[in-house]
Amino acid sequence: MRLREAGWSVRRIASATGIPKSTVARDVQGSPERGPDAVVGDDGRTYKARKPKRPATVYVHSDHQHRTAQTALEHLGPEVPARTLDLRGLERLRRAKAAEDSRKALHDRPGTADLPGRVDIRHSDIADLDIPAGSVDLILTDPPYLQSDFATGGPWDLLGSRAATWLKPGGLLLAYCAHIHLARAINRLAPFEADGLGYWWTYAVTFPNANSGTQVWSRAITPSWRPVLAYRKAAGPSVPRYTSDPVAGDGKEKDSAHPWQQGTQEAATFIQRLTTPGDLIVDPFVGSGTVAIAALSLPGRRVIGADIEADYVALAQRRTAAAYAPLTSEA
Ligand SMILES: C[S@@+](CC[C@H](N)C(=O)[O-])C[C@H]1O[C@@H](n2cnc3c(N)ncnc32)[C@H](O)[C@@H]1O
Repeated sequence: MRLREAGWSVRRIASATGIPKSTVARDVQGSPERGPDAVVGDDGRTYKARKPKRPATVYVHSDHQHRTAQTALEHLGPEVPARTLDLRGLERLRRAKAAEDSRKALHDRPGTADLPGRVDIRHSDIADLDIPAGSVDLILTDPPYLQSDFATGGPWDLLGSRAATWLKPGGLLLAYCAHIHLARAINRLAPFEADGLGYWWTYAVTFPNANSGTQVWSRAITPSWRPVLAYRKAAGPSVPRYTSDPVAGDGKEKDSAHPWQQGTQEAATFIQRLTTPGDLIVDPFVGSGTVAIAALSLPGRRVIGADIEADYVALAQRRTAAAYAPLTSEA
């Protein structure tokens, strides 16, 4: 800090000492000293000095909370706002930064020049997801389906209203559902027929082994397939390409990264059958990024994914980035 007190700029200190500029900037910002008002750069010119920030104050009530706060503060570095925060607020900032870091890592990966333009994974509630009207060819998604999710204004209502807006004429909405909630899901989506979104079909994702489904005690049934509801935006070409309706499912992955993770191969089958290169696919409940990974594995597909949970956004971005490697040889 002596050089700083002597009026050196951050850049000048960094180039004279070989210490990275970001490290010097962090030290200057974190310094308890007020520092000079003006500094001289390595070009000999005088600049207004950046002032050290007042440190953030975080209230914690246990050793464990103290450690959590320290980890978050280290992760956030100079981006911690100079104000009083509670631990939840600090954790929210850390998760948002983790998601942003993963997004940058994804987009900065060498050798994948065309891929960043094809994938966009956002931290957003479906209610706030900004997608141009009439721009989407396929919505392939796995919405939450607790009983409360079927309430008025819940995720299924939002899915119906957004699908009716986002889809191109003839575009499809495919939504995974549990057998036990099918009637609720169909009831929730029915009102959007007035906006041109009509019931189309129910696909079956079959389990690799007929008895591998989770037993549904209340119905005394072990399912061997999972329903995927399909809705279609009216006024498109008369009918899409002919396809069959069972789709071979991947089965439950061991050690899934997300508690409700679906199979990548089955998503890729849907996307391959129902879209062509250049088409835009959207998953507004992207979870661990399965649909994004599946879409990128097929030539020319573009994909937008979103999730309300920052940790899942970061996970989806990490999994998508990891899936890039085998794709870099794609023509
Ligand atoms: C069933 S999971 C999707 C799992 C995904 N198919 C996969 O393979 O990982 C549903 C996801 O929707 C997200 N979610 C719930 N409500 C949401 C909302 N209002 N807007 C956006 N995402 C939401 C949850 O955080 C969860 O990750």
